[in-house]
Amino acid sequence: MSGVPGANPLRDPQDRRLPRIAGPSGLVIFGVTGDLSRKKLMPAVYDLANRGLLPPGFSLIGFARREWQDEDFAQEVHDAVKQHARTPFREEVWQQLIQGMRFVQGNFDDDEAFEQLKTTIQELDKAQGTGGNFAFYLSVPPKFFPKVVQQLKKHGLADQKEGSWRRAVIEKPFGHDLKSAQELNQIVHDVFPPNEVFRIDHYLGKETVQNILALRFANTMFEPIWNRSYVDHVQITMAEDIGIGGRAGYYDGIGAARDVIQNHLLQLLALTAMEEPGSFHPKALVAEKLKVLTAVELPDDLGKHTVRAQYVHAWQGGEEVPGYLEEDGIDPKSKTDTYAAIKLTINNRRWAGVPFYLRTGKRLGRRVTEIAVVFKRAPYLPFESGATEELGGNALVIRVQPDEGVTVRFGSKVPGTSMEVRDVTMDFAYGESFTESSPEAYERLILDVLLGDANLFPRHQEVELSWNILDPIEEYWDKHGKPAQYPAGTWGPAEADEMLARDGRSWRRP
Ligand code: BG6
Repeated sequence: MSGVPGANPLRDPQDRRLPRIAGPSGLVIFGVTGDLSRKKLMPAVYDLANRGLLPPGFSLIGFARREWQDEDFAQEVHDAVKQHARTPFREEVWQQLIQGMRFVQGNFDDDEAFEQLKTTIQELDKAQGTGGNFAFYLSVPPKFFPKVVQQLKKHGLADQKEGSWRRAVIEKPFGHDLKSAQELNQIVHDVFPPNEVFRIDHYLGKETVQNILALRFANTMFEPIWNRSYVDHVQITMAEDIGIGGRAGYYDGIGAARDVIQNHLLQLLALTAMEEPGSFHPKALVAEKLKVLTAVELPDDLGKHTVRAQYVHAWQGGEEVPGYLEEDGIDPKSKTDTYAAIKLTINNRRWAGVPFYLRTGKRLGRRVTEIAVVFKRAPYLPFESGATEELGGNALVIRVQPDEGVTVRFGSKVPGTSMEVRDVTMDFAYGESFTESSPEAYERLILDVLLGDANLFPRHQEVELSWNILDPIEEYWDKHGKPAQYPAGTWGPAEADEMLARDGRSWRRP
């Protein structure tokens, strides 16, 4: 059963014992000289090979403008693997992998280069036994997506032949608003059938994100309280301590909300809030996520219930860091958000009236992603006045990263002769409960692409619904005022604290 798309590992005990190994196949990476490719994709390919999850003849083709020979490309992959791979370097694994490595030089308009790519694939089919099965990974700026898929079509590289497959893997951002996402979907679906299109949202590849489904649906104790009767509100936080680094060209004009709320945070919301699917078959899972995204409602007053901001120059962790507007390559008049916080509600029986607060930012206090389900206070506290002053609300916190695990916060009696109650926590940490380390998100996602397992990839309707949620906010921000400010290294602007204070709540300090 292993590797069958839709096979449910939680239901089939056989499946857990069998490793999911990719069949004969190869991967073509466009944009192979970019950061993502060097830091994530190439190391993930090596880690998969090292874990024995790739077929012996697996092939990797790099496509870029650089004047490289196959050897130069192989050297680049070698360096990337040595620097960023998760598993130890093993010469015999490397020697096998290098057999199937090729480089094709050209730009995306270059018909000759695409013909060369075609020939290279045919050669690898013969030499490496890749069986015509190739995935094309578009790790390129979004403006090139249409051109590359059209070239693949023009040169017959996307033709689905009997007994083999051709797949497109598309990095985010998938469009920059609803309209552009719809246009892009049309272009891609004109070339690849929908079940051969894999849109990457690397958060879905993270173990802790998949664990949301296990926590909710493999247990009995959480689901009965997972609703408006018990939950006061939900906070989803994705904080980063880094700035924009060398990504000015990509980031300016995009901003925090488009960069991560539209995709990662709304996916986290969907998994946290959705109903239980009948199985983990992609269709069943997507159907439930779509229902939640359709039920999301924005607040009437976007001025009061959303905040965007930019970091300003400050000392962070002993280092003096520039403000966003002083970063290299950023327009000093830019209004791009490096911090965004929004309040949403979900119109259904389970969640009516429960606010979901989403926030993200660069240059915040520390790197942390978590989902905090905060419960209502006990309706009556039979304690003396003052005894529960230090009692917060109960909370269940899914720690997505970096300290992966789950925390439950509840009140407990302070030792002593009086009845004083204070918050304590109970912890599950991945590192303590499991001996194996978690695979990188990209390892899981690349393997799933090669297996044709679409479960961890957003379908086009999800992408479009997410833009539908974000578009009115972006339009509002466009028309109204300027971003607020926060010093680098802090937890965001005062306006975001005020946004929650107005609702009688406050942000967690993760
Ligand atoms: C990417 C965003 O999708 O996620 C980046 O484009 C962000 O801006 C990154 O830094 C964070 O990923 P992770 O896995 O480190 O949380």
